Amino acid sequence: MNTSIPAISIKGLTKDFAVTLRGVKLRAVDDLSLQVEKGQVFGLLGPNGSGKSTTIKIILGLLGATVGEVKVFGVPSHQVESRRNVGYLPEAPYFYRYLSGYELVRFYARVCGVPKAQLKARVNDVVDWVGLSQAANRRVGTYSKGMLQRIGLAQALVHDPKLIVLDEPTAGVDPVGSAEMCELILKLKRQGKTVLITSHLLAQIEDVCDRVAILDHGKLMVEGSLLELVGQRDRQALIVDPLPAAEIEALREWLTSRGHVLNAIEQPRARLDQLFLSKISRTGHLGGNPGVGSNVVPSSSVPKSSASAPSSAPKA
Ligand SMILES: Nc1ncnc2c1ncn2[C@@H]1O[C@H](COP(=O)(O)OP(=O)(O)O)[C@@H](O)[C@H]1O
Ligand SMILES: [Mg+2]
Repeated sequence: MNTSIPAISIKGLTKDFAVTLRGVKLRAVDDLSLQVEKGQVFGLLGPNGSGKSTTIKIILGLLGATVGEVKVFGVPSHQVESRRNVGYLPEAPYFYRYLSGYELVRFYARVCGVPKAQLKARVNDVVDWVGLSQAANRRVGTYSKGMLQRIGLAQALVHDPKLIVLDEPTAGVDPVGSAEMCELILKLKRQGKTVLITSHLLAQIEDVCDRVAILDHGKLMVEGSLLELVGQRDRQALIVDPLPAAEIEALREWLTSRGHVLNAIEQPRARLDQLFLSKISRTGHLGGNPGVGSNVVPSSSVPKSSASAPSSAPKA
């Protein structure tokens, strides 16, 4: 394949929705142009209603563009062929809660046309890869939010796509589940996959994305590599052991005498999510919390009356 073809190319994309019977239109995406190169993790950021999901649905061919052109690996996104190499985890996935994790991924594998001979091995591999093999025979209805997102990622990966589109994969997931999702995204990047991720949780995006675009009211506000956008290349930080005030003053004078400026003296801070993760146990398969799975009691030790208690299980 021609390596110069981008994974996603969006040119002059506008999407209007008719929002009243009289034909009043809402512009969800407004003249958007973007390119996502192969092998990148690309973050599409913006407040609620800024057009992220609409853009994704057009990339996936689930919605048509009003104006503009969207291509996936060089193929126009309205052609079925463009979706062959794409995996998708929607914003609020609905999974049939009475299926087991394994059955759910198997169902999607069949929908995506994974050959019968490879089906079992492929489903096992991908369920294991997202760290859910121990919970694979449990009903999805008993999964925590973090586990649901991971089984959602497994279904998106089951046909081994080259591009994975994740719409708000960590919304409503606790910091442990979010950290696990980020680890999996970085693993995908190491495998050479292209990942498009939307989020309004900016700290996480910073950890995983090579490039980001910020949308507001459907318009592109800024796009670039994280280093270009938030790196302060005209400044440097030196981290030192605590210095007495007199030493700081001497340092300032010395810098001034050499024509430099000491701009700020600050107390460095660790990130709160790092503190959080260091204080709680992460005992799951990924080194993470397997959620409800960690508390599962062997069925032989559960009294019959409480063995099936779907009313208390989290909703799929
Ligand atoms: N099917 C639809 N019909 C009408 N308006 C829609 C539809 N889908 C999205 N919108 C509107 O388009 C705008 C962008 O929505 P969306 O792409 O979901 O934003 P985001 O994912 O950034 O939160 C919002 O104002 C939303 O209400
Ligand atoms: Mg959205």
